[in-house]
Amino acid sequence: MAQVPRKKKRKDSALSLGGGGPVGAVKFGEAGIFLVERRMGSSRRRFLTELARKKGFRVEGQMSESVTHVVSENNSGDEVLELLEKQNGICGTEFTAALVDITWFTESMGAGKPLQLEKRHRLQVKRAAAAGTIAVPVSPHACQRRTTLNNRNRLFTDALNILAENAELSENEGPYLAFTRASSVLKSLPYNVTKMDDLKGIPNLGDHSRKLIEEILEGGTCNEVQDLIQNVRYQTLKKFTSIFGVGVKTADKWFKEGLRTLNELRASTIKFTKQQEAGLLYYEDLILPVTKVEADLIKQIIEEAVHRFLPSAIITLTGGFRRGKEYGHDVDFLITHREEGREEGLISKVISWMTAQGIILYDDITDNSYHKWKYKESETFDRFAKCFSIFKLQKMVHNLEPGRTCSHGSLAANETRGIGLAGHAGSPRHLTATAAKDKDWKAVRVDLVVAPFGQYAYALLGWTGSRLFERDLRRYAKHFGHMILNSHSLFDNKQNTFLLAATEEEIFAHLGLDYIPPQERNA
Ligand code: CTP
Ligand code: MN
Ligand code: MN
Repeated sequence: MAQVPRKKKRKDSALSLGGGGPVGAVKFGEAGIFLVERRMGSSRRRFLTELARKKGFRVEGQMSESVTHVVSENNSGDEVLELLEKQNGICGTEFTAALVDITWFTESMGAGKPLQLEKRHRLQVKRAAAAGTIAVPVSPHACQRRTTLNNRNRLFTDALNILAENAELSENEGPYLAFTRASSVLKSLPYNVTKMDDLKGIPNLGDHSRKLIEEILEGGTCNEVQDLIQNVRYQTLKKFTSIFGVGVKTADKWFKEGLRTLNELRASTIKFTKQQEAGLLYYEDLILPVTKVEADLIKQIIEEAVHRFLPSAIITLTGGFRRGKEYGHDVDFLITHREEGREEGLISKVISWMTAQGIILYDDITDNSYHKWKYKESETFDRFAKCFSIFKLQKMVHNLEPGRTCSHGSLAANETRGIGLAGHAGSPRHLTATAAKDKDWKAVRVDLVVAPFGQYAYALLGWTGSRLFERDLRRYAKHFGHMILNSHSLFDNKQNTFLLAATEEEIFAHLGLDYIPPQERNA
């Protein structure tokens, strides 16, 4: 399908408008004005722009998401919408700005501040759909949608996510994807769905998902979801797979053996993997959300450790936190160095040092195996050197303002001992190292990935997520670009060559996609 062209970067807006005339400091940044030239005329538009800017108003030269008031003169709402679509490639699902008459503008100038919108200021929109939004194509590909964390349809997406999760726990790939895609498309909508009509033309919504939405719209809940959350298999598999190192197959096996609780697992004769042992040992902490403050603190710790061995290494926070999330289930980092090759062997040195400092509770290092990769076809996993780890994070002093953290440099090796880990001598499965309420540390899952500089942009894109965004990027590359995308590279089948990229922007450009910043990849 045709993708609407994106608006140009705002950089050139000051040039295209106002002609460099005197511009006052912006006093009312919260209101972003866009003046529609049609009927107003270009000279009057320029005059009004200068006037407003002198008074401290923010006037944008292009239509963009930061525009809150679209001002026009002698136009109907429908005319303005049509104009915006034609000239700016803007469609109703992309902005939530108010369409207002020039009276709001002149009155605001008179008052010297943006006035509260009244009904008489608003332009009437007669055509399709409600609330100033119009029915326009929404892409079926998550990588062509802008999905922020501002989910206006949580009631539906929560329910769909439970069905998706249940399908995943039953290894039903088809339904898992269908419910995940349905949930994702609703997350991207800039309006609340309040009636079935609001879903006209929205892709990725199958009969099952539509029925669920309809039921919730009518009664607030969905029976299937209510039944599921009471379902013992669903509850048990959800609990078991929340243990670090336990996948669906293992959880299902344990369930079939009659196991239902963590204590039953701990008391059983099951031979756990090292990862699962750590997962059980630190379970109570690992199911707690990791905060952004904690993620930043861990970043400092890692920077200190990495720079000890490679002073100008670059360390980037990836995963959900890079997408702007305030909480995560773990913290993901990507490490590289401008001089390719310098990053080799880094991870084991860093982990050894941090282990000696008592910072590491668990680690599982994988060496880089890219050179052994014989296939161009993308695999599920990448071949970077990496470490799945559990950090021992000293708790911050309470009362600390957000963003301010206490020193972390005082971790002594001996601190690790005596707190639960003493149990390593015996059988750790009987222990929960993290249950004590008054302990002064928290176990946190951390993923460290090391990429050679030449693959850094691809690694960054691949490790920023979300899972569905990545999946759709790869699918889009394959079907529409005849290219193979993974976290190492982009291979063009038609040109039979790898396409180099130094930035994520270049990768989107190679794929013929509009650039979507990380905060809008929360598909
Ligand atoms: N990823 C990957 N290979 C893995 C694990 C993860 O490429 N072995 C990618 C995932 O596709 C995802 C990103 O790394 O895009 C982050 O994964 P994860 O930490 O699982 O998810 P987040 O989006 O960070 O969510 P959360 O906040 O729950 O951690
Ligand atoms: Mn993560
Ligand atoms: Mn992760």
